[in-house]
Amino acid sequence: MSSEQDFKPLVVAFCCNWCSYAGADLAGTSRIQYPPNVRIIRVMCSGRVDPQFILRAFEKGADGVLVAGCHPGDCHYLKGNLYARRRVILLKRLLETIGIEPERLRLEWISASEGGKLAEVIHSFVKELEKLGPNPLKEVVK
Ligand code: FES
Repeated sequence: MSSEQDFKPLVVAFCCNWCSYAGADLAGTSRIQYPPNVRIIRVMCSGRVDPQFILRAFEKGADGVLVAGCHPGDCHYLKGNLYARRRVILLKRLLETIGIEPERLRLEWISASEGGKLAEVIHSFVKELEKLGPNPLKEVVK
């Protein structure tokens, strides 16, 4: 088996308490399977995800970071998810300048009733990260 096949990407997922975190819960209670290589961090709103949290996750060895929030119009704090979207767009540009593929950062809208969508998103993200290989920052930070 090659090391490429051995590679299991680590995903850090910042999930909004009101939607995607509940969606992850639903996936669990509905026994919907998704890859185990994801670490879910509950936040009160996707707008609470400071860009520094994302950069820190990459610095600490995450191969991909997912920010999951309420659908536009459903944010409990009105515009938190819209701020998150702006930040993610800017952060993707920044990541590119420091040699991290912007595809390693994803933003998704996942409601509390979309446990299946959460599982699909994680599946497809992990597949994409397997193609990209390990986070290049891992080698630099070692
Ligand atoms: Fe869910 Fe703002 S409360 S994204």
